[in-house]
Amino acid sequence: MAIKILIVDDVTETRENIKRLLYFEKDMMVVGEAANGEEAVKLTEKLNPDVLLMDINMPVMDGITATEKISLEYPKASIIIMSVQGEQEYLKKAMVAGAREYMVKPFSTDELVNTIRKVYDFEQKRRAQLSEPAVVRELRRDPQIITVFSTKGGVGKTTVATNLAVTLARQTRKKVVIIDLDLQFGDVAVMLNVVPKRTITELIQDINQMDPDLLESYLVTHPTGVKALPCPTRPEYAELITGAHVEKILGILKHNYDYIVVDTPPFFHETTLTALDLSHQILLLVSLDLPTIKNVKLGLEVLDSLHLKGKVKLVLNRSSTEIGIKCEDMEESLGLKVAAHIPSDGRTVIASVNKGNPFVITHPNTAISESIDKLAKMVMLREAKRQAVPRAEEKKGFFGRLFG
Ligand SMILES: Nc1ncnc2c1ncn2[C@@H]1O[C@H](COP(=O)(O)OP(=O)(O)O)[C@@H](O)[C@H]1O
Ligand SMILES: [Mg+2]
Repeated sequence: MAIKILIVDDVTETRENIKRLLYFEKDMMVVGEAANGEEAVKLTEKLNPDVLLMDINMPVMDGITATEKISLEYPKASIIIMSVQGEQEYLKKAMVAGAREYMVKPFSTDELVNTIRKVYDFEQKRRAQLSEPAVVRELRRDPQIITVFSTKGGVGKTTVATNLAVTLARQTRKKVVIIDLDLQFGDVAVMLNVVPKRTITELIQDINQMDPDLLESYLVTHPTGVKALPCPTRPEYAELITGAHVEKILGILKHNYDYIVVDTPPFFHETTLTALDLSHQILLLVSLDLPTIKNVKLGLEVLDSLHLKGKVKLVLNRSSTEIGIKCEDMEESLGLKVAAHIPSDGRTVIASVNKGNPFVITHPNTAISESIDKLAKMVMLREAKRQAVPRAEEKKGFFGRLFG
């Protein structure tokens, strides 16, 4: 079906010119002409055009007023403003009034037909999206679980996880939640400076009745909109939480959240393993010191034997510290390339912790914040997903799975 076009301009010659320019376009049809805004409104109702080409200065009713009326009353009609040089201040008003595009006179045939097609296609897509049933939209959702892990403590997992969560929320405007699975000594709540009312300990007591709405009531909200599920208030409560709990919690969160960031303790535990299993991406943190490299190498071997290595992205924290070990040597030792570098910046990190806010908020223009930005972009690209391996079918505990 041809794109139906209404030309609105008080100068007859201009209308004739446009008709001539569009004459040979098979997918376009000029269905009417109006000499002022008022006529345009009437003809829009009568002719139901897809696209209006609208002049600005016209008698009776000007193009901006007409644009406002038409885009409110007949939102299916897309309006392209035709202005002359020097009408810049009107252009802004026209866009605010609801115009989709503008062209500066005189324009070429190409410019005209391309603009019409672009505006028309956009409107078709917009309508398709609006009419898409909720189920289809639900099917298209693609929640990502990202676990920040390392077989070494103090390597920066919580620092990276919290700043990443906030950055993902800012960059994507999607729903982000962070879960503290460092069940004994987690400090996500501290780093985000949120006061937990309830934690995962209370949550698992209601686990059988759990649904997305109820789960929501266990989360604390950071001012950025990021939600957090804090770890137990006492280390001894950690024992109560099992891999099955974690599986259930992650499964439910996937209904409401687009990015689920998981912070972890520096060791393999049933709960950590479940998270690693269910993750789409694993960010494995390392730094350039021998004990860390040694432990991360061992950790990587375990991840490999659990068929989880395919999801691993190596993240080098404090990459700028000069301590003699070269990044390339570490890559060779681990058999994995560094996918993201986070520079060392003690001043920024500490200042932000003391201010009680992630540094990506308190110090957005530092190299370390930019590196988190890059990391978030990498996560958003979801490259790791394609390599994802189906999870092990049986959960037999860490050692069982390793040797089973
Ligand atoms: N890139 C960095 N530059 C400077 N200090 C850092 C950096 N990353 C982490 N730190 C500091 O290192 C310490 C340990 O970080 P943390 O995120 O708690 O590690 P983990 O969660 O792995 O135990 C914290 O004091 C933190 O402020
Ligand atoms: Mg930590």
